[in-house]
Amino acid sequence: MEKKEFLYEGKAKQIYATEHTDKVVVHYKDDATAFNAQKKGSITDKGVINNEITTILFEYLQKKGIPTHFIKKLSDREQLVQKVSIIPLEVIIRNYIAGSMAKRLAIKEGTKSPVVITEICYKKDELEDPLINNDHAVALGVVTYNELDEIFRITYKINDLIKDLFDKINIILVDFKIEFGKNSKGEIILADEISPDTCRLWDKDTLEKLDKDRFRRDLGKVEDAYHEILNRLKTVL
Ligand code: C5P
Repeated sequence: MEKKEFLYEGKAKQIYATEHTDKVVVHYKDDATAFNAQKKGSITDKGVINNEITTILFEYLQKKGIPTHFIKKLSDREQLVQKVSIIPLEVIIRNYIAGSMAKRLAIKEGTKSPVVITEICYKKDELEDPLINNDHAVALGVVTYNELDEIFRITYKINDLIKDLFDKINIILVDFKIEFGKNSKGEIILADEISPDTCRLWDKDTLEKLDKDRFRRDLGKVEDAYHEILNRLKTVL
């Protein structure tokens, strides 16, 4: 698959055209940002590791019937994916309370939630991705209520599937963020990535953080944590 012109650069990835109008190449970078890009840095080989972790997770989800943009891994840092128009929503699932929710509602980080919590944020850098509700999303014109139902239905399935997978490797899936897009047929499919950049992953025994919070909070051993997740995932393949 020939990589053609550069199309777009995000915080952690670049997108390139291919000879097929409905397929693009995603290139995973080592750049890391946090707090709406106020904190910037680089994590050695993050792009390579997140490409591999996302490949494992998207292939697993696809096998279990989740529609995703993933087609195949092309190289260390590249994947071929279906071209989608991204729905500008960050869909967040919380199994345990942490991060922004712990702070906003003054709840102790690590508290198990009695219910699975869903949140949506409007992807808009100038507004710093504000938390919105279903009506806001529909009023903004980014989705219909039916599309939101579909997004949440797929999101709950993804949570069940990856929570179980991480449980098998002794990891608690605290929370995660996913994004959806519409492909050329108008189908809503999982897009973007699932990696330690987009999930909170804690060791079940020690509660050690094995995700991007190590970068956000200057906890050190960031690369080791990402490697640890990849190595454990390889043991359940
Ligand atoms: O910061 P907050 O607690 O709202 O994050 C919830 C989850 O969503 C975390 O797993 C975090 O890594 C992920 N997230 C993300 N990209 C964002 C915001 C949050 O991947 N822009």
